[in-house]
Amino acid sequence: MNTPTSSSSTTTAAPLPRIAVLATGGTIAGAAADATNTAGYQAGVVGVDQLLAAVPALSTVARIAPEQIASVDSKDMAMPLWTTLAQRINALVAADDIDGVVVTHGTDTLEESAYLLHLTIKSDKPVVLTAAMRPASALSADGPLNLLNAVTVAANPGARGQGVLVAFNNKIHSARDVVKTSTYAVDAFVSPEIGALGWVQDGRVEFQRGVVRPHTFATEFAIGADWPQVEVVLSYAGVSRLAVDALVSAGVRGIVVAGTGNGSIHASLVQPLADAAAQGVAVVRSSRVGSGHVMRNGAAADDALGFVSAGSLNPYKARVLLMLALAAGVAGPVALQKTFDTY
Ligand code: SIN
Repeated sequence: MNTPTSSSSTTTAAPLPRIAVLATGGTIAGAAADATNTAGYQAGVVGVDQLLAAVPALSTVARIAPEQIASVDSKDMAMPLWTTLAQRINALVAADDIDGVVVTHGTDTLEESAYLLHLTIKSDKPVVLTAAMRPASALSADGPLNLLNAVTVAANPGARGQGVLVAFNNKIHSARDVVKTSTYAVDAFVSPEIGALGWVQDGRVEFQRGVVRPHTFATEFAIGADWPQVEVVLSYAGVSRLAVDALVSAGVRGIVVAGTGNGSIHASLVQPLADAAAQGVAVVRSSRVGSGHVMRNGAAADDALGFVSAGSLNPYKARVLLMLALAAGVAGPVALQKTFDTY
């Protein structure tokens, strides 16, 4: 009779990835008095532990390390909080026991924060932002599934080296491309023209294209306390030169113009902006249209006027890049144009 052999070895499953979840506020952490209310609520009042408790399935995807970084409505996002957030993420991704980071954020300035992190996080570990269009208290709140999907993406090896990502409504976007396009719809985020990188659904992650421009560890940018003053000016029918003159007198380092069409600029603004550029203010032409790109020397004579073209960056992302470039010591329209052509 064969005696069963006993073995002292047991098979141990590999531990789940350890993902830090950093909460900053937003509608995903919003609450209203009534579950039917999706517009009149207070953003950023639900804490990270409560957000996580609403998604028990997270424990099957990752080991979560939660942190409450802030509790803001992201319309009020400011540079000191960007500094805190980027520095904390850089510290976390440098640690051996963290495999990725998820940031919960408001939708209003998510595209700006995401691009800032895309340019300043020094790691190839996944960093994924998510948000919600409906408060946590709402019927059919979209936050819990967005959070589960963001953690699922951050825990997926395919997300490594793709730069900062945005997981929203089952889509995975590059931080460089994604923009908010609706005031209320749960599919508010798109990457105009170029499309999403991939999708996440029911635990499955699929990337369908990669990110071409340099990002994260491959940029020359670093987060510091120095935020050069850069403002956005809008071109529209009947605009006066008042805003440009006030900004130049106030000593701004840069002006991003949200131009019409292909970054065209109202005649009343062209000379004041050219004078500003001649005085050393960085002037970047972008478009208020919402998709497409701005051709250098297309709708304005950039070479002659000393302007820079933002390419396919919208005005708000162009402002982020311009602040980082100026802080890194990039100076003059030729060098700045190279920066915009690179990132
Ligand atoms: C916010 O951006 O914090 C409020 C709006 C939202 O998250 O949808």
